[in-house]
Amino acid sequence: MTAGGSREAGPGPSRVARAAGLRFRRPTEADYLRVVGVVDDWWDGRSLHSNLPRLWLQHFTGTSWLAEDEAGRLAGFLVGFISPDHPDLAYCHMVATDPNVRGAGVGRRLYEHFIEDARAAGAREVRAVTWPGNRRSVAFHLALGFRIMTGPGTQNLYGTPALAGYDYGTEDRVLFAREV
Ligand SMILES: CC(C)(COP(=O)(O)OP(=O)(O)OC[C@H]1O[C@@H](n2cnc3c(N)ncnc32)[C@H](O)[C@@H]1OP(=O)(O)O)[C@@H](O)C(=O)NCCC(=O)NCCS
Repeated sequence: MTAGGSREAGPGPSRVARAAGLRFRRPTEADYLRVVGVVDDWWDGRSLHSNLPRLWLQHFTGTSWLAEDEAGRLAGFLVGFISPDHPDLAYCHMVATDPNVRGAGVGRRLYEHFIEDARAAGAREVRAVTWPGNRRSVAFHLALGFRIMTGPGTQNLYGTPALAGYDYGTEDRVLFAREV
């Protein structure tokens, strides 16, 4: 599958069974190598592991989540935080699920846990950004009730309203927001 990715084949019985037995828990620093080790694979071979330095599992574990199956295999993760500058906002930095369980609701459940964290902290909105060419991520966020934020400079990139060069001056981004 390419980075833009069309939808995986529907959730077969094995995916659903594996997803049904999942346990959701907070990560610890001891999980770090296991989590960062799947990033490039789960993002279709794009080299994105440098977006997840160890600090994420040192300082943001109280608002992050792992999903594991009954055998203890990693099925998904979400790293996020409540904004120190804007305590009414929660921000999801990265969310991903094992390609072998996609389409079975694991990503949605990870976000539900995170949104519950946001609610408990008194935040009113969750935000996230993604590369507009990642159509799977765009569809996922829209399915979860996020809206695309638009404003000056928004243009249509890969079929989605986005900001060119938003990160680093070179990386295009779609901006998402959802009330908690
Ligand atoms: C995006 C991603 C996290 C979705 O995880 P998932 O476990 O397959 O998602 P879910 O099964 O929970 O789907 C939740 C909703 O999103 C929708 N969705 C998920 N993938 C989709 C796709 N490829 N195309 C269209 N809709 C999709 C589903 O229809 C579902 O909606 P529904 O509950 O109304 O049926 C997963 O594809 C992934 O890890 N991608 C690589 C990493 C990435 O791009 N992360 C996002 C940017 S940080």
